Order: sequence, then structure tokens, then C-alpha cells
Amino acid sequence: MPGREVKYNRPLRLGVFGFGTVGQGLYHLLREDDFRLAEIAGVCVKAKSKKRIISSDIFSYEPEALLNDSTLDVIVELIDDAQAAYDIVTSALKRGKPVISANKKLIAENFDELQRLADENNTTLLYEASTCGSIPIINTLENYYPSLPIDSISGVFNASSQFILSCMQEGKSSIDDALAEAQRLGFAESDPSLDIKGDDTRYKLSILAAHAFGVTVAPGDIPMFGIQNISCDDIVMASKNNCRIKLVGEGKVIDSHISNIVAPVFIPHDDILYSIEGAGNAVVVNSDSSFGHHLIFGKGAGSRPTASAVVSDINFLSEGGKYFRNKQISGTHFQTAEILKNVYIRGDSLDWLAESSAIENFRIRQSDSLTFATAWVNLSKLCKSLEFINSNSFLAILPEQLGDDWGNDA
Ligand SMILES: NC(=O)c1ccc[n+]([C@@H]2O[C@H](COP(=O)([O-])OP(=O)(O)OC[C@H]3O[C@@H](n4cnc5c(N)ncnc54)[C@H](OP(=O)(O)O)[C@@H]3O)[C@@H](O)[C@H]2O)c1
Repeated sequence: MPGREVKYNRPLRLGVFGFGTVGQGLYHLLREDDFRLAEIAGVCVKAKSKKRIISSDIFSYEPEALLNDSTLDVIVELIDDAQAAYDIVTSALKRGKPVISANKKLIAENFDELQRLADENNTTLLYEASTCGSIPIINTLENYYPSLPIDSISGVFNASSQFILSCMQEGKSSIDDALAEAQRLGFAESDPSLDIKGDDTRYKLSILAAHAFGVTVAPGDIPMFGIQNISCDDIVMASKNNCRIKLVGEGKVIDSHISNIVAPVFIPHDDILYSIEGAGNAVVVNSDSSFGHHLIFGKGAGSRPTASAVVSDINFLSEGGKYFRNKQISGTHFQTAEILKNVYIRGDSLDWLAESSAIENFRIRQSDSLTFATAWVNLSKLCKSLEFINSNSFLAILPEQLGDDWGNDA
């Protein structure tokens, strides 16, 4: 890039942790470039007995073998164990070694600590691949918007649940069959409940909100509703109303607070997210005061798409790139909003609604043979019953324009 310092005038020497879906994708992309940008000098993995696609000489099984190798320029962390990743990444940063990671759980849960370690040790931590696979959203937030106000950032960030919902939408499969296919294609997390319950979206929202608003929110503090209890009836109900259900993460500035939520949403046909299909991810950045909406979409997971974001980070690092995180809205902090949302609730039984203090003034509705409830709820009140709702029912947010004329009162 013109004007940017060229820090290395030779291929970078990488110490790579993990050689699974993303690690192997990285190897293939670097090989196609004849290893001009970077070479893989060593790989640390876990299972000694596993067959590998490249010579066994390059593999080690002890993290220290790579962490102590002073000839390495960068540690690339691509493992599926966030605790082990924490040990690897913090050790590398403390030694002043630049780190590239794809691990959203690690980054989201330890955001401030990892940034501090990188700063204190005068080194760099990059993690574009952690959030929405191939979509360059962190770099975009860092480089395009650092001084532009952002009112909200939202979108579909989890490829696996996107894929599942698309399959169900097309009438092709149940949630279980679609999940098995997502796993076969390498979109799903090693623990797929993280995809469908919303945790994966929540980690990514936490990272995006930190870069968009300069406010760090622990993922566990973000209210989360998942798609684990969705049925084909809910998909049909959405279709009848010209909507598609998507698992959405949204961070929004409301009266100088940031309100973040992860929940299934009935997306109307004229919404910018409606046509995002399959394993596609999309991020919508909105600033009413400057540019309106920007939509960035692309492949959110999979071997090569995710590895392409790692390659982009390697390139960025080779040019001396780092994140500045200079977005800070003064006086802003996180709070679950006291805002009203119109919600759809369906479950085997809705009798519990009568006892619920979180959901008042609900209406039981009937459409063909489907019974469900709708209610205007206060989001912060709703969150008090979050665990109960997630284990007993399917809840989704309805678009405001659907209003109350929806299904017949039962
Ligand atoms: N798959 C995607 O589409 C995608 C998209 C975005 C982000 N990510 C993130 O990228 C990371 C890697 O995902 P993946 O899908 O490539 O996982 P994966 O296919 O399950 O591979 C995991 C790799 O990590 C290695 N590993 C696990 N624990 C280790 C340890 N303690 N020390 C050294 N190596 C260890 C495994 O070793 P063995 O080979 O010996 O078992 C394996 O090679 C995760 O953080 C994931 O969330 C993945």
C-alpha cells in the first residue's frame, strides 16, 4: 500500500498453532503464492497419530517449541481450544512476538487484557479472521470509520446458523440435518451448540462493538436468544409474512448507551439482510449523521475464506500495520436498553406466559394449526427470563412494520 512502511523485505517466518480447517486453508493459500508473502516454519498441533497432508518434519506437539524459536516473525494461532489459545497468545505477546489469531472466543473474552499486553510489549495483535470469516470488517472499522460516528452495527455473523436457516427456508431439511451438513462443509464450530445458541454471534458482536464504538462489553453480558428451538412452522410463518428468519447480532447507540443483543429476527423482504443466503455473512454499518448504511457481505466461514483473512493480516503486518482502536465515544457505556420490541414466541406449551413478569400483555394467536404468542416487551425486562425462554421456547424479534395485524387471536 503506498505510503505504508515495508517492515519486512523477505517472506515472514510463521509459527502456526493448529492445522485443521483454517490452518490447512492457510497452507494452501500460501503455497499458491509460492510462499512469497510468508513461509510456514513450524506447526504445533495436538494429536501425534493424525495423518497430515504435509511432511511430518514441520510438526511439533509442545507449544514451547514454537514460542521459544527466536527465528519466527509471527505466531499464527488457529486452534479450537480457547483456553490453550489464551496460554499461547499471552506467552507470545509477553515475549514481544506479533500474533495473528482467528479465535473469536479468545479475543472477545480477553479483549482489554490482550490489547494491553500487545501495547505493553510493543507488539501487534491482529484478528480479522475471528469475525465474519473473509469479510474485512475489522480493518474497515479501523481504517475507514475511525473518526466517523457509527449509530449501529448489525448483521448475520454466524455462517453455520445462516446455512441451517437457509436450508430450512428452502424446505430441504430439519435443523439436525442442516447442522450435520454445515459440519461436513467445515462451517460449524467444533461445538455446534455455540453456533445455534448464539454464542459465536455474541463473541463477534462483542469484538465489532469494541472497534465500532470503543466500548468493551464482555460477551456474557450481551443478551442472547438462539435458534435451538426453531421449527419448520416458524420458517413457514415468516414466509407467509414475506419475511425470513435470521440470527442477528446488533449493537446500537441509544441515548449515549450502547445496547447489544443477539436474537433471531423476522427480516422483511425489503430489508438489506433479506437476500443474504447460505453460509454468507453480512455486516451493516449505519451512521444516520454521515453516510447512511454500508453493507459488507461475503463468505463468513470455511477453510479458504477464513484463511484469506489470515493472509490479509499477514500482509497487513508485513507492512507494519496494527489496530489503533481510536474509536471512543466519551461518556458511552454498555447497558441493555429499556426499549420496546415486538416479539414472536412459540413453544410446545405457552402456559408459562400467564405467570411471566417479563412478558405482559401478550396475545395468543392462531395461524392454520400453529399457535404462538406476540407481545411488546421491554428488552431489559425480557432478559431476566432469558434462560427460561431459551430452554422452553423459540423467541424472535418482529419487524415494527408488521405491527399487531398478525395471525388471528386464538
Ligand atoms: N472453521 C471456520 O470456518 C472458522 C471460521 C472463523 C474462525 N475460525 C476459528 O479458527 C480456529 C480454528 O478453527 P478450525 O475450524 O480450523 O478448527 P479445527 O478444524 O477443529 O482444527 C483445530 C486445530 O487445532 C489443533 N489444536 C487443538 N488444540 C491444540 C493445542 N492445545 N495445541 C496445539 N494445537 C491444538 C488441532 O490439532 P490436531 O490436528 O492435532 O487435532 C487442529 O489442528 C478456531 O478458533 C475457530 O473458531 C474457524
